[in-house]
Amino acid sequence: MYADSEVLEVEVERILPGGMGLAHAGGKTVFVSLAAPGDRLRVRIDRRQGDLIFASIAEILTPSPLRVEPPCPYFGRCGGCDFQQLTYEKQLAAKAEIIRDCFHRIARLENIPEIVVTPSPRDWHYRLRATWQIDQERRRIGYYERGSRRVCDVAECAVLMPQLQQTLERVRMTEWQAFPPALQHLDVVAGENGVSFSPPFAQFETTELELTIAGERYSYDASAFFQVNPSLLPALIEFALSNANGETAIDLYCGVGLFTLPLSRRFESVIGVEANPAAAQFARRNLRSAQRENASVVNSGVAEWIRTKPLKCDFVLLDPPRAGAESVVIKGIVDSRANRISYVSCDPATLARDLKKLMAGGYVIESVIAYDLFPQTHHVETVVRLNLG
Ligand SMILES: C[S@@+](CC[C@H](N)C(=O)[O-])C[C@H]1O[C@@H](n2cnc3c(N)ncnc32)[C@H](O)[C@@H]1O
Repeated sequence: MYADSEVLEVEVERILPGGMGLAHAGGKTVFVSLAAPGDRLRVRIDRRQGDLIFASIAEILTPSPLRVEPPCPYFGRCGGCDFQQLTYEKQLAAKAEIIRDCFHRIARLENIPEIVVTPSPRDWHYRLRATWQIDQERRRIGYYERGSRRVCDVAECAVLMPQLQQTLERVRMTEWQAFPPALQHLDVVAGENGVSFSPPFAQFETTELELTIAGERYSYDASAFFQVNPSLLPALIEFALSNANGETAIDLYCGVGLFTLPLSRRFESVIGVEANPAAAQFARRNLRSAQRENASVVNSGVAEWIRTKPLKCDFVLLDPPRAGAESVVIKGIVDSRANRISYVSCDPATLARDLKKLMAGGYVIESVIAYDLFPQTHHVETVVRLNLG
């Protein structure tokens, strides 16, 4: 048996869902954080879980040719970006492999279509939205450290849009007395006309923001969800909706109406469902401003709504949070016999779990495209279009 402090020598085989490198040593499976496929490493054991070993790099013996020098001074300590050690091309390839792995292992798909991960036009300075952790006692503002709840004090974050970087600098210059004593984190989001904070504090009023995406005008603020990387959204929306036709469409987990608005131009009648009251209000307002009277928004949990109202529609778009859709939601979609579904997901594992159920219910995957909304991290957005078989 290995002692917990023991160091192993391993060669990294590939990147797994969750972003860790896979290696083997002494018959055990080793997960190595911040690794590159082909690295020969001396790794330190952090923890064990049954036969699995979780480890971090103690020394790079032979670097992988896919490895680059991470440019961020906080890399390794900050829990934010876990792919900076990979070339951008390898990040995209690793994400395609992660999706394939989930489809194969979780959804039990045999003939997996080729998965293209569309690159982000910007692989740095792309983030429109962030959550900054605040440790008032130690006077730190930044992100949680890797694997801990300690706050890593971050003065400069290379994935933030310049507007948010400037905001981070302004927040960091604020007198500590101005911070409400209970404030532990700040949600911040940018738009064309400024920056919004949740909660608002000191001189940082919450501003109502506006942004145009694919010709549609959206209002939102930091109290509602908004996608992190707007540059790929026109292509993503186009792909998600281009197989959509019929009379009625449902947009589940609709946020401020990113898909509800374009859907309202393609269908006679559209219903969006969203649990967050602020987001649902913005979605209604966005529809009203665009004079789309054929769409409405229900402020409810999707599962609760489906329990009371069986789905009847031609097209379903669902874009759930990381946890995926609840079982009752998938059952409701299957029972609806909608002709087509577009499933937008930020977690390939829960996507694969839900696809398995949709396929068991008679749906067939028509096509898949992924979008790199989150460069420098292992996260990826996947859109799967399905037809009723
Ligand atoms: C990934 S976001 C997608 C939002 C929107 N489709 C977009 O692209 O901007 C998921 C949304 O689901 C909402 N949500 C989370 N859990 C929910 C639930 N159980 N029922 C309804 N909405 C929920 C969140 O508030 C968030 O707005």
